[in-house]
Amino acid sequence: MNYETLNHTGQARFDPHYHNKYATLMAAGNGALGVRATHEEAYTTQTRGMYLAGLYHRAGEGETTELVNLPDLVGMEIELNGELFSLLSGEILGYHRELCFARGELTRVVDWRSAQGQRFTIKSTRFVSAQRLGLFCLRLAITPHDDTATVRVVTGIDATQTNSGRQHLAERELRVFDNRYLQGRYRTLDNNADVTLCCACQVSPQAQVSFSAKNRRLLQHSQQTLTAGASFTLEKCAWVSATPDGPDDNDAAQSLIRLRECAAAGYDALLAESLQTRRAWWQGARVEVESDSGQDQQALDFALYHLHAMTPRHDERSSIAAKGLTGEGYKGHVFWDTEVFLLPFYLHTAPGVARQLLRYRWLNLAGAKRKAARGGWQGALFPWESARSGDEETPPFAAINIRTGLRQKVASAEAEHHLVADIAWAVATYGQATGDASFMAHEGRELLEETARFWLSRAQEVNGRLELHDVIGPDEYTEHINNNAYTSYLAHYNVALALETRRRVGGPDDGFIAQCEDFLARLFLPAPRPDGVIAQDDTFFSKPTIDLTRYRAQAGSQSVLLDYSRAEVNEMQILKQADVVMLLYMLPWRFDNATVAANLDYYEPRTIHDSSLSKAIHGIVAARCGRHDEAYRFWRAGCEIDLGDAPHSSDDGIHAAATGAIWLGAVQGFAGVSVQNGELHVTPSLPRQWQRLAFPFCWQGGTLSFAMTHDTLTMTSARAVRLFINGMAVDVEGETVFHRDGNVWRKEALCNPTR
Ligand code: BGC
Repeated sequence: MNYETLNHTGQARFDPHYHNKYATLMAAGNGALGVRATHEEAYTTQTRGMYLAGLYHRAGEGETTELVNLPDLVGMEIELNGELFSLLSGEILGYHRELCFARGELTRVVDWRSAQGQRFTIKSTRFVSAQRLGLFCLRLAITPHDDTATVRVVTGIDATQTNSGRQHLAERELRVFDNRYLQGRYRTLDNNADVTLCCACQVSPQAQVSFSAKNRRLLQHSQQTLTAGASFTLEKCAWVSATPDGPDDNDAAQSLIRLRECAAAGYDALLAESLQTRRAWWQGARVEVESDSGQDQQALDFALYHLHAMTPRHDERSSIAAKGLTGEGYKGHVFWDTEVFLLPFYLHTAPGVARQLLRYRWLNLAGAKRKAARGGWQGALFPWESARSGDEETPPFAAINIRTGLRQKVASAEAEHHLVADIAWAVATYGQATGDASFMAHEGRELLEETARFWLSRAQEVNGRLELHDVIGPDEYTEHINNNAYTSYLAHYNVALALETRRRVGGPDDGFIAQCEDFLARLFLPAPRPDGVIAQDDTFFSKPTIDLTRYRAQAGSQSVLLDYSRAEVNEMQILKQADVVMLLYMLPWRFDNATVAANLDYYEPRTIHDSSLSKAIHGIVAARCGRHDEAYRFWRAGCEIDLGDAPHSSDDGIHAAATGAIWLGAVQGFAGVSVQNGELHVTPSLPRQWQRLAFPFCWQGGTLSFAMTHDTLTMTSARAVRLFINGMAVDVEGETVFHRDGNVWRKEALCNPTR
């Protein structure tokens, strides 16, 4: 890997319509702290945001628990010769903003002529440290070009920041220590967590400095008069911390110590240190692609940059929010997105992180059991939306209908139960991919059994067979249905996994084995029709279809709900996202190619892809059918969800699952890697636009490296590994090269003469 060639995402033009999209795409983060890439100067249309993973709060009765948007550190009032700097006034002579994925550093350089006609260069850089989890640094340099100029910059800690108007923090204390270190101490309104922000703004000794505290703002005012060509510089070093599991007065003192250390080290040294950590990350995970389009490598690098930024590796009580740490969308809650769309990436690049994400669920078993019991069931029913407590966080109602004043109920928490089996699926995949016997005997076994118990109690007898009624599959446009194929097949798999584990690991004589056997023998699983199509649920085929062209053209916008009520959509063959196709993706060994193709052809035209979780999965399933062009089209469309031109699609945060799916598409789709019943399968299926694909891949305690072209497949493994290429068992050790001969891959004879 050439670390230096890691791609950038850049913005060449200042355009207020894209403020929030780029604030999201170029956000900084390290899994603990996330900072939106808003401009230093204020614009009414930009939403600032800074979040700490796991710091949630509910502002009051009837409110939803949400990831707290912390006091702002980015904002700066910049005055140049008495004129307020804003790109909405004066003249922009040059503008460039760029996020370097490798360095994790955002740079903006602006050449600006003020309304008074004076030219300035304003350059800023910033990063969140990959090494020190509470550290955020920002450097600003302002150079007047024409004449002597007075520069005034006001910045500090701005606690007027809210989550769209909801204030979560009470101010406790504001201090300036040693005429240099600013500290703001806050407590969540429910008194359950402390938050401390500290910062120091280092300016040149010639600058005059003063401080103020007013209206929830603690600020440093810096002013300097400069000759043309000289620069005013400000280096802001900030430490952000919180105690989400209870107030702790010690946190403030500790934060100040951390800040002093960092401020003494300075921006350059702190960046260099952060880079070391990032370098290791890229080396262990980067996917390299040679493609006709440079955008493909950019999309993969973008995805990996954000996967790093969104994942709380430091804290097993936190998991990955649906928008990572880049925005307030979905209130920072955790969905099945984590286990199905994000965890596989970790499984094969950093298995310890995958383990930790599963431990997050295991630690939250109590909440899942409470939820199951409330519904009259046994075992564990995990919350559809989860935060820190493990309780259900899904808001009961969605957007208001402003004509009727009524709010639409959100049914997912009541019936979208497939999440339970998705978690079990992830546990099993983890066990198979890592061989981590101790996890599987302890956390894994408990997760598999408690989730299985839920299904055992959830099923009902209908004429001698067991059925799952009143569920919602992944397709949320079809609610409260019976025998949803996805849910039933996954529940069946869940119970089979628990049974197999119980038999292997042992356990009390509590009738569990017999119950599982009965469930597996009697659960109704809709079989494919003669034409291969599997019914999404009992009534799906009886519903009418409509022309979806218009809605599919606006995928992601849920525009169908402007023309039809949810109840009406429910009564038509309209899918929000992959459902049966999702099933084909999850359990590929259960369906032959003809069935896969038949279902793809039947369901895709009926799918609007209004969820960002849909297109990439269609792409992978298409790749598995050998439909390269279709697969590539879907993969590209998946990349465009965040990286496309639409100005507002990512305003409230990136689509974390879609980001994970960019990696899934490359590795599971085009490289055709899958784990099937504990076996590692590889069926390369590169699109014609790609010439080469290479990536590292963790498997059972070791790391393989894959590199493939259309006709060669090179694998490197330090120890002997058995895998299946296009279904054929091969043993690999050291570097092994295969050549394609039609559908068969033949081992290069000279490579391993002894084998
Ligand atoms: C999708 C869900 C997904 C959630 C969070 C919804 O629109 O339908 O499948 O879990 O978004 O990404």
